[in-house]
This record gives sequence, structure tokens and C-alpha cells, in this order.
Amino acid sequence: MSQNSSVYGVANESQERVHLTYLVDRSMPSEDELHPGSDVVRGLSQTPKTLPPRYFYDDRGSQLFEQITEVPEYYLTRTETEILKSCAPEIAQITGACELIELGSGNSTKTRILLDAYRSLSYPLIYCPIDISAGILESSAHSLLSDYPDLKVYGLVGTYELALEKLPQAQLPSRMIGFIGSTLGNLNSAECDTFLNQIANALKPKEYFLLGIDLHKSKAQLEAAYNDRQNVTAEFNLNMLQHLNQRFQGDFDLTQFQHVAIYNESDRQIEMHLRSLRSQIVHLQALNLTVEFAAGETILSEISRKFDLDQIKRLLTAKQLDCVQVWTDPHQAFAVLLCQRA
Ligand code: AVI
Repeated sequence: MSQNSSVYGVANESQERVHLTYLVDRSMPSEDELHPGSDVVRGLSQTPKTLPPRYFYDDRGSQLFEQITEVPEYYLTRTETEILKSCAPEIAQITGACELIELGSGNSTKTRILLDAYRSLSYPLIYCPIDISAGILESSAHSLLSDYPDLKVYGLVGTYELALEKLPQAQLPSRMIGFIGSTLGNLNSAECDTFLNQIANALKPKEYFLLGIDLHKSKAQLEAAYNDRQNVTAEFNLNMLQHLNQRFQGDFDLTQFQHVAIYNESDRQIEMHLRSLRSQIVHLQALNLTVEFAAGETILSEISRKFDLDQIKRLLTAKQLDCVQVWTDPHQAFAVLLCQRA
């Protein structure tokens, strides 16, 4: 961020133990604030067509994602939770008393596993969730407060980028930024590079970064995870078009698009598409946009990268994030990495 930018925080104490700070970068309104939907126009005007994954997450999309985490084929969330349950005591031992900063205010099941580990060592509990949505952040904070009477929550409402630049002054000897759930996999390699630089810049030497990632495995298992039999993933993918219809007065006919998820083995990523079932024209009135689709043409809606442990460790080290410990499940399906800022 440039030096003359004016970021301000408004402390809004909704309850004694929850402090929310709203981060707004007034000097650099985002492209979306200046021109809402410009990313949709850009994505649908290029060849091949793309849409930004953030449009998955309207209320319905967030509910559908929660359902995905429960379908039998989608092993990621369950496996990461099991790994965390077994390694959390060790994480707490290694880091010592430590503030937990979570990118995405997350699934409180996983947050609780970590808080329990710190509590069992009688460490003070400080939790700093970061989320673009104040509503999600508050509800996740409040759901924790009743079970952790000594917990203090300092939430940051804003983008990860802004929040990482404005982390509150630490009150405990150390801090740990958690980015679990394999969300790193949804960034392409350039975005991943930028993101890891931001993490490294946000941490002081010896502070910690906890990362959950999905690992490379058979095409059959990966494609099953993104093509579940109950079609929840298909509904999640198609809901993006419904979201665009609502948000930008669109006329996508959801019956004329099909969910497709394929594992690209050479790039080691699931590629999720919406395939047009016929040649058709779609309008997004609020964006003054008309889009033509050929029969069979696809929109890339998401990538989900699957990592190789040595490769990710090398990348983290190159970013000054040294890997202290790695935990996986018995099938090596998923990994949780604890890194320390050099
Ligand atoms: C949020 N993210 C880690 C999920 C993934 O597996 O890449 C999103 C998702 N897309 C389809 N299913 C789940």
C-alpha cells in the first residue's frame, strides 16, 4: 500500500470480548467498488471464458459449500479436521502462548480444536478472525464466546491483503496466522506467490504460519470429490450463475449449463467449469453485457490445486516461511504444515 493511503479503523464494541475493526482503504477503492462487476465483464469477454470464484459465495452458495464438506466423496474437510485433532496439542507445545489469527473466520469446529489445545496448556486465548463479511465474523465469534469464557476476539473486517497489513499489536509472546481448509489451492501460482509474500511480511521473525493443503492423488479420487453423487458440487457451481442473475439482472438459464470438474494431471489442479449445453445468448442488464456461447463452450469457474509436499515446502522456504513440522493422515491425502518466519 502506498504511504499516503489512509486506512482507518472504527472500533465497534458489540460485546465486551468482541472487538471488530472495519478496515477501509480510502485511497485505493477496489476495482469492484469503483466498477461493480467489472471482473465478470472481463472474465466473460475473454477466451476461454472465466468467472471469479468469489461469486460462489452468496448465502445459498455458502450453505452449499457447507453441504459439500459433508458429502462422502469430499474427504478434504473431514481429513483436515482429523489431522488437526491429533496435531493441535503438538502445535500448542511448539508455538507456546500464541495469538490465533485466522484468515476467513472459518469453520468454528477447526478453530475450537486449536483453542482447546491452547486452553489445555492454560495459555490465554486471543483469536483474530479476518473476514470480508462482518456478519459471518460476528456470528462465528459469538458462537465461540459462550464456550470459551476467557476468550478475547479481535476481528478484522476487510480483505486479507488489507488486514495482513493492519494486524493488531500482539498482546501475547507470539502469533500464528492460520490459513486452513486448502483455500491456498484456489489461488493460481502468481496469486499464491503474492499471498505468501503478504503472510511473510505480516509476521515477525519466529512467528508462525499454519497452512492446510490438499495433496496430489489419483485422478479418480479427485474427480469423485468434485463430482459428488448427490450433485451438491454441481448445484454449488451452477448457483454462481443464479447469483449473477440476481446481482446483475442476468438471464442465465441454469438448465442450459452443466457442471464439469476435471483433474488436469499435468498442472495438478481440479478445473471446475460451467458448460453451455447449446448455443445461446445471455444478458447481464446491470453490466450492459451480452455474452454469446457456442454449444459445448465452457466457463472456468474455479481451480483447486493439489500440492506435492516437497514442492510446497520449497516454495514456503523461498518465502522465508520455514517448515517446522508437517502432519498428514494415514493415506497422505491432506497435510497441515506449521511454518516459522525466518
Ligand atoms: C474452498 N475450497 C478449498 C474448495 C476446494 O475444494 O477447492 C472449494 C470447492 N469447490 C468445489 N468443491 C469445493
